[in-house]
Amino acid sequence: MIDRRRIITLAGAAGATSLAAPFVRPSWAQANTLKVGLLLPYSGTYAPLGEAINRAMELYVKQQGGKLAGREIVFAKVDDESEPAKATENTTKLISGEKVDILTGTVHSGVAMAMAKMAKEDGLPTLITNAGVEAITRGACAPNIFRTSFGNSQVGEATGLAMLKAGVKNVVTVTWKYAAGEESVAGFKKSFTAGGGKIIKDITLPFPDVEFQSILAEVGSLKPDAVYSFFAGGGALKFIKDYAGAKLNEKIPLWGPGFLTDGVEKAAGPAGDGVKTALHYVESLDNPENKKFAADFSAAYGKAPDVYAVQGWDAMQLLRIGLEAAGGDTKKRPEMFAAMSKASFPSPRGPFKLGTSHNPIQNFYLRELRGGENKYLGIAAEMLADDTTGCKLA
Ligand code: BEZ
Repeated sequence: MIDRRRIITLAGAAGATSLAAPFVRPSWAQANTLKVGLLLPYSGTYAPLGEAINRAMELYVKQQGGKLAGREIVFAKVDDESEPAKATENTTKLISGEKVDILTGTVHSGVAMAMAKMAKEDGLPTLITNAGVEAITRGACAPNIFRTSFGNSQVGEATGLAMLKAGVKNVVTVTWKYAAGEESVAGFKKSFTAGGGKIIKDITLPFPDVEFQSILAEVGSLKPDAVYSFFAGGGALKFIKDYAGAKLNEKIPLWGPGFLTDGVEKAAGPAGDGVKTALHYVESLDNPENKKFAADFSAAYGKAPDVYAVQGWDAMQLLRIGLEAAGGDTKKRPEMFAAMSKASFPSPRGPFKLGTSHNPIQNFYLRELRGGENKYLGIAAEMLADDTTGCKLA
């Protein structure tokens, strides 16, 4: 039975959300309608990330006149609460309840694993718009699953390269203990230790805990050259503020994958000044696609876009390419998936293409947060691919 309180539907137009039951269309209109399911966190520490993805997807479709490949797009949304224990039930609401034609989402790696398992069994065209859990584009890859974001260790690896280049030698890592944090740290260690860097200690706390005081005291006593930390959303903001509150920012530079600062640049205030990160997007990227995207997004929502918005935007670009190749018919899955697999287009993040396991091959940029803005400092890793270990698609 579908819990209507958790399903928000809208008819294509950006911002036209409503808590009402879905509008029942006459059959001629239904035939032309394509339902895109969004499994995203609309509550909890990752809610701003979900909102950014959702907004960019709606904006893209709106700019295409509400249609992709001639099909009118409607969205069905479920709040997954970043709660892996509810992931199967919540994905079922979209697949069996809403009978979506396309499945998209989500942010949290644990939720995404359950979602991807169901998507693989069902064969439904699926776009992963954030979660970087490696298995989805490694051992558990599938012909119908495409990721427009990153692999967790891919971003960690790029950050490790940037830290080595900056002369950092001894590091303490701090993260949430779940797939995203652990894989991020593993990717970081891979490049950082290969280049001679040393890990003094790995510190973890359960997701989504934000009691950082004892951890920060320990970091202060360990005196590393720098801290590598994976946090995102509300937790990232609290970590940056507590780090500065403990005055660690005055002596131990804070680094991490760019999730640490994306979306919280302004809220971090002076506490965020000097935080260095690597990520596949920075708002000031000087390319025509980003200039237009950033201007349009800011005009629509009164807020600059972040990496999550770009990932949602590119999910719709990739979907459009697949749908156009299939003449708008999602039953023509081989045509659709073949076009999506070899898609290559200019994204606001720079060049976008997929590797053989359907994970993006992309640039990673070195950024420094200053005055409420992530400043571009250069390239951290050029067109870096993720490992394809165990994936049998190619
Ligand atoms: C993840 O769970 O995969 C994730 C969440 C937020 C930012 C980046 C990765």
